[in-house]
Amino acid sequence: MFKNKTILTGVKPTGTPHIGNYLGAIKPALDMGKNAVQNGGKHFMFIADYHAINAQKDAAMLNQKLKEVASVYLAFGLDTDKSVFYRQSDIPEIHEFTTILYAYTPKGFMNKAHAYKACVDKNRLNGKPDDDGINMGLYTYPTLMAADILAYETDIVPVGKDQVQHVEIARDIAGAINAHYNTDLLKLPTYHIEENVAAVAGVDGRKMSKSYNNVIPIFAEDSVIKKAIFSIKTDSRPMEEPKNPDEILVYQIYKSVASEGQVAEMAEGLRGGKLGYGHIKNMLVDAVLKETQNAREMYNYYMAHFDEVEEKLSAGALKARPVIQKTLKCLKNAVFGR
Ligand code: TRP
Repeated sequence: MFKNKTILTGVKPTGTPHIGNYLGAIKPALDMGKNAVQNGGKHFMFIADYHAINAQKDAAMLNQKLKEVASVYLAFGLDTDKSVFYRQSDIPEIHEFTTILYAYTPKGFMNKAHAYKACVDKNRLNGKPDDDGINMGLYTYPTLMAADILAYETDIVPVGKDQVQHVEIARDIAGAINAHYNTDLLKLPTYHIEENVAAVAGVDGRKMSKSYNNVIPIFAEDSVIKKAIFSIKTDSRPMEEPKNPDEILVYQIYKSVASEGQVAEMAEGLRGGKLGYGHIKNMLVDAVLKETQNAREMYNYYMAHFDEVEEKLSAGALKARPVIQKTLKCLKNAVFGR
């Protein structure tokens, strides 16, 4: 499926991920990139720091988040010899590319973009003017994102549901330019939503999400992870009472992180009244710590040796720039008739 395909993933630097982010988004995207590279394709992975400044105006904070997110991806095994890993703000050509796209982007596309519309809706709800607090960076966000995608001749963008519309906008802009010049100037991207991964439940049983405050963190002290897991909702039935594992939240989360054999063992213990809630929570703690141990060690290493990460990012930019320079040149040739 990924033979000779170019996969591109962008991440905003917004703090360290939880188990749900890892299993639902990060791991599938990294696997997809790896798969593409093994099959003659390419993988671009970048940190969208220009996108981040629309909301984050504190440079120290931004830098901290950037460090975290870069270290996270490396910790999860992103291989910078195989994937092109870079920081958006190291690629000045992205702005030339974006400016050209503006000329072919109907303003209506931006008006209907979800991220912008959500802000307008919020303003209305609070009785504020529609554009209160909305900057041009946020408004034109999908055009910059289209440039991110189109500049690298991307075939597939792995996304969560919230980003589908943005990839469609990129495709529409590319289509409009191609139609105007009547050539295949820009590659039309598609998106990929990971369907096979079930959403991981949070400690309150709803989908694990930072906004619900129900996450199991990955890059935290053991004691913090343990505390989160011990806060998972249970009832007051005694251990001896046989239980249907599927009705037990700890078990559901365990299924996302433990091996098949371990899951079967927990199910059997619950059905037979041999495992109490304390036991199964400890089993989950062990599984989470084991699944993430290597990544946690690597993360701490990269955070403490960020100069090494900087070197990787700079080397990545050196690989990315010739690619965008080439597509930009074709685009400029067409647009300016030279
Ligand atoms: N908009 C994406 C997000 O909020 C980040 C992003 C920026 C991106 N440019 C991209 C993702 C290009 C994929 C491709 O998560």
